[in-house]
Amino acid sequence: MSFVRKSKKKVERRKTKKLPISKVNYLMDFAILLIFLLAMEPSATGIVIHEWLGLVFTIIIVVHLLLHWAWIIAISKRFFKKLAGQARLNFVLNIFLFIFITILIFTGIMDSKVILPFLGVRFESIFNWRFLHNFSANIILLILGLHIALHWKWIVLMTRRYATNLIPSHHSRSRKTKTKGDRA
Ligand code: HEM
Repeated sequence: MSFVRKSKKKVERRKTKKLPISKVNYLMDFAILLIFLLAMEPSATGIVIHEWLGLVFTIIIVVHLLLHWAWIIAISKRFFKKLAGQARLNFVLNIFLFIFITILIFTGIMDSKVILPFLGVRFESIFNWRFLHNFSANIILLILGLHIALHWKWIVLMTRRYATNLIPSHHSRSRKTKTKGDRA
């Protein structure tokens, strides 16, 4: 009897420890997706909002990488040794995502008409940054689709856990108590 109570307490403690970080990850991933999709349409937002959105996107990406740093190091070490096929594919996709996001941000800054002049930086460039900027944005969109497909189970689980909590329902309590689904 006391053993059951103790293990229940253990699960409760683990739950309260793990929930905030997975919630932070979930909200951050959601923000990254939303900002990216908004930034894909500069003609709709206007260039001023576009560039500031790009800056917020850059900051969130850096935080996202820091939050997943342990995973990045662990998989890098195991990459050429023993690693499950899906984890390997996931890692390769993430490397491409990182490369194209870096190109996107760099070319956006080089072509900047708002943030750089705001900081007092002005220069004439003969290179067509806009082409590379647009190209990398489209490649990222493609990789993001695959990235979302690979993480679909996690997304559904987290959406059930957090998003459905916003809508009061008699099911939400039983959904809340599930502990599975924290990302590897
Ligand atoms: C989430 C990140 C971003 C995405 C998805 C994105 C996407 C795009 C796309 C699709 C275009 C249209 C390109 C074309 O029509 O040829 C564009 C244009 C542009 N972007 Fe970005 N961008 C991002 C971040 C940035 C950043 C950080 C900056 C600068 C600080 C920036 C500056 C520009 C500029 C100056 C243009 C050209 C606008 C014009 O001349 O009409 N972008 N971007």
